[in-house]
Amino acid sequence: MSTLFVSAKEDGNTFKVLSAVSLALGSDFVTAADPIFPQLKKYDTIVLGSGVYANRVHRNLLSWLDILCAEDFKEGSKVYLFMTWIGRGSSNKATFNSLASYLAEKNIDLQPSWMECYGNMKKLIWPSHPNEQDILKVIDWAKGL
Ligand SMILES: Cc1cc2nc3c(=O)[nH]c(=O)nc-3n(C[C@H](O)[C@H](O)[C@H](O)COP(=O)(O)O)c2cc1C
Repeated sequence: MSTLFVSAKEDGNTFKVLSAVSLALGSDFVTAADPIFPQLKKYDTIVLGSGVYANRVHRNLLSWLDILCAEDFKEGSKVYLFMTWIGRGSSNKATFNSLASYLAEKNIDLQPSWMECYGNMKKLIWPSHPNEQDILKVIDWAKGL
């Protein structure tokens, strides 16, 4: 089964986790800033990754998704969300819901089993996250998809 991990940014917390997870699993990894767009039809599983930004995914990820439609994906493939956040209220759930609504307009289902871990904010909040343990948990989650 082939998996693609997509990071909204080419640095930061989400990038740190997903680049390590994809390396550990031998999966493909891209960022929304990469100039070459991946062949999505190759993948059974696509994990979209982003920090939580005021109840939404990062705008880079939305721009990356903007040109896509359901037909660009392999039939039967599944799309998941991985988030890093600082744990503010239910902004994780709100972010999932806003992305799910955005994708639903394109007839793309966002699978309900999302994953998250803490990500530091300017090294002031959760300064030691994401850490090795966070990455191992995400590897376990991704193995089960
Ligand atoms: C402008 C801004 C808005 C944010 N909004 C939230 C939020 O609503 N909830 C939350 O838990 N964290 C919030 N954060 C913290 C980030 O989600 C967190 O630091 C995340 O790990 C950043 O991911 P990235 O480095 O991959 O972009 C916000 C950070 C910034 C800079």
